[in-house]
Amino acid sequence: MELIICRTPEEAAQAAAQFVIDRVNAKPGIILGLPTGGTPLGMYAELAKAVCEKRVDMSKITTFNLDEYCGLPVSDPQSYYTFMNTNFYVPCGLSATQTNIPNGEAADPDAEALAYDNAIRAAGGLDLQVLGIGHNGHIGFNEPGTSPDSRTHAVWLTEQTRQANARFFAGLADVPTRAISMGIGTILEAREILLLANGADKADTLATALRDPVTPDNPASFLQRHPNVTIIADLKAAARL
Ligand code: PGA
Repeated sequence: MELIICRTPEEAAQAAAQFVIDRVNAKPGIILGLPTGGTPLGMYAELAKAVCEKRVDMSKITTFNLDEYCGLPVSDPQSYYTFMNTNFYVPCGLSATQTNIPNGEAADPDAEALAYDNAIRAAGGLDLQVLGIGHNGHIGFNEPGTSPDSRTHAVWLTEQTRQANARFFAGLADVPTRAISMGIGTILEAREILLLANGADKADTLATALRDPVTPDNPASFLQRHPNVTIIADLKAAARL
């Protein structure tokens, strides 16, 4: 694993964006796996800037998002579709045919999950998967206890995750209880992985994931089994590494 420690979240965002830009410039038709959450926001802003300044051409990329809440229409301000549309698709000028995100409104979430997993494979697999890390070590919405062999699947969110995400909703009661998420096995099939972490509140989880034995109790620890992982962390998140 390669570890890049940046002084501030802003520097980490620039480093993450440059990492992605380098991969897109090397392979314009790259298949990107992308996260939502607070952590990647700075990276998306930097990528949008780079597109405006013509430092990167995103017109041939294809994206697959990690996850989506069940039960929220795409038009809901808290859907991950809206997050991606606002922070990445529109600012980077991506067309609808370039982007993929699980359909959280699917009548049969299990069938939707299977179709999504198959679509990733049909596209040729993920060249680069960008990840955040939850306070419980989740990657995507793969909560502690998830099998490392899991494929894209419908999941129940833990109370801890719902509470962490309640800051984006009117209250905890509004946070969905289910989501569709790429599985750990799906994520680990990406040819390269970039893990992002900022802030003191991620320091213990990140250190446990990267330094302690691999365990389903900290799903991000399965990244130790992947041959091509880079971590970009700010000083606070990297404090216990
Ligand atoms: P955050 O979420 O970036 O909002 O901290 C990370 C995650 O839950 O994967």
